[in-house]
Amino acid sequence: MGVCGYLFLPWKCLVVVSLRLLFLVPTGVPVRSGDATFPKAMDNVTVRQGESATLRCTIDNRVTRVAWLNRSTILYAGNDKWCLDPRVVLLSNTQTQYSIEIQNVDVYDEGPYTCSVQTDNHPKTSRVHLIVQVSPKIVEISSDISINEGNNISLTCIATGRPEPTVTWRHISPKAVGFVSEDEYLEIQGITREQSGDYECSASNDVAAPVVRRVKVTVNYPPYISEAKGTGVPVGQKGTLQCEASAVPSAEFQWYKDDKRLVEGKKGVKVENRPFLSKLIFFNVSEHDYGNYTCVASNKLGHTNASITLFEVKTTALTPWKGPGAVSEVNNGTSRRAGCIWLLPLLVLHLLLKF
Ligand SMILES: *[C@@H]1O[C@H](CO)[C@@H](O)[C@H](O)[C@H]1NC(C)=O
Ligand SMILES: *[C@@H]1O[C@H](CO)[C@@H](O)[C@H](O)[C@H]1NC(C)=O
Ligand SMILES: *[C@@H]1O[C@H](CO)[C@@H](O)[C@H](O)[C@H]1NC(C)=O
Ligand SMILES: *[C@@H]1O[C@H](CO)[C@@H](O)[C@H](O)[C@H]1NC(C)=O
Ligand SMILES: *[C@@H]1O[C@H](CO)[C@@H](O)[C@H](O)[C@H]1NC(C)=O
Ligand SMILES: *[C@@H]1O[C@H](CO)[C@@H](O)[C@H](O)[C@H]1NC(C)=O
Ligand SMILES: *[C@@H]1O[C@H](CO)[C@@H](O)[C@H](O)[C@H]1NC(C)=O
Repeated sequence: MGVCGYLFLPWKCLVVVSLRLLFLVPTGVPVRSGDATFPKAMDNVTVRQGESATLRCTIDNRVTRVAWLNRSTILYAGNDKWCLDPRVVLLSNTQTQYSIEIQNVDVYDEGPYTCSVQTDNHPKTSRVHLIVQVSPKIVEISSDISINEGNNISLTCIATGRPEPTVTWRHISPKAVGFVSEDEYLEIQGITREQSGDYECSASNDVAAPVVRRVKVTVNYPPYISEAKGTGVPVGQKGTLQCEASAVPSAEFQWYKDDKRLVEGKKGVKVENRPFLSKLIFFNVSEHDYGNYTCVASNKLGHTNASITLFEVKTTALTPWKGPGAVSEVNNGTSRRAGCIWLLPLLVLHLLLKF
């Protein structure tokens, strides 16, 4: 920080002391400022952290002595550097302008800088404020959470920057994007499954593009069976019973027939499980397969069940068309492929005739 000389005195006194050191002020004469055309320091200077700031002071040829001060410490007096900070350099010292540059500006450089001159034995000063801006940065954010439906959550997003960044939370759901909080904290009481998903924290000030970070909120809930339809299948055909359930974490499925659990590997029956769907497949339906089946969906939060009926459809065994709701395989692929085989020579012939 302060590489320059520093005395433990109020800075206004120090300016006077410093100026006296430079013989800019005769002892006993108070320093006045802002009442003359010269020196004329530029308006306040705003720079971003890491950039260079140029402090310009417009003077005229009546000026005999010049200096730039940081608060109470002399940075430059004429062409002489008084401070040790290598980031401070003299840019110009002409009859009309006296400028210095502060390189790689940091937040602690913010504050008043004084251009001090002596004209016709009168000391005069002009002041400029160096304002340092810093891009927004998220320094603390909640981690991803998994919570049971109905509980309360609190998300935190702490950001720094100059000026102080504005922090907002948005819910990024597949349906809509909505602002949920214009604050560093986001509280949700009695969270619902619809409120699960990504929450985005955005920190913005006018210095740089906003910075965003996301938090994933997983809302756990017990299974809910959304679809369980009965199916009609004729004897000797393939039949499939389907059970669809939504749950977080995803449901595990079990199938029962009349209180008896169907175990995997039973001859002619197969259970196919996916995260939200279970299929009970009969490869060759026989009379004793018909009846009521129960699909049980469970996760760590609970379980639910639904009854599904596999019923008989009276039909001539070889008719490929089934009644509504029937799930059975119709293999009409062969005939279509045969059709293509006949088409092929015709196509070749057509092409040959064209040339
Ligand atoms: C200005 O003064 C402040 C406070 O003493 C110090 O931290 C900072 O490094 C100084 N900056 C320059 C460019 O001299
Ligand atoms: C310069 O900055 C200071 C401190 O932030 C403020 O009080 C003053 O009004 C500013 N002057 C101008 C001309 O913006
Ligand atoms: C959620 O917050 C409300 C209000 O502060 C409180 O009454 C309730 O007990 C909290 N629920 C849980 C599960 O902590
Ligand atoms: C289905 O089962 C019946 C009786 O067991 C049998 O006659 C028939 O060939 C089987 N069909 C198929 C496609 O396996
Ligand atoms: C199957 O379930 C239906 C309605 O859920 C019921 O009417 C029928 O009697 C049941 N059949 C058997 C064999 O349990
Ligand atoms: C299905 O649910 C009912 C009511 O919740 C329960 O009485 C029954 O035992 C359950 N059946 C199975 C197979 O879990
Ligand atoms: C059989 O043909 C019908 C009518 O062309 C078609 O809708 C169906 O998807 C076909 N099935 C298979 C298994 O190819």
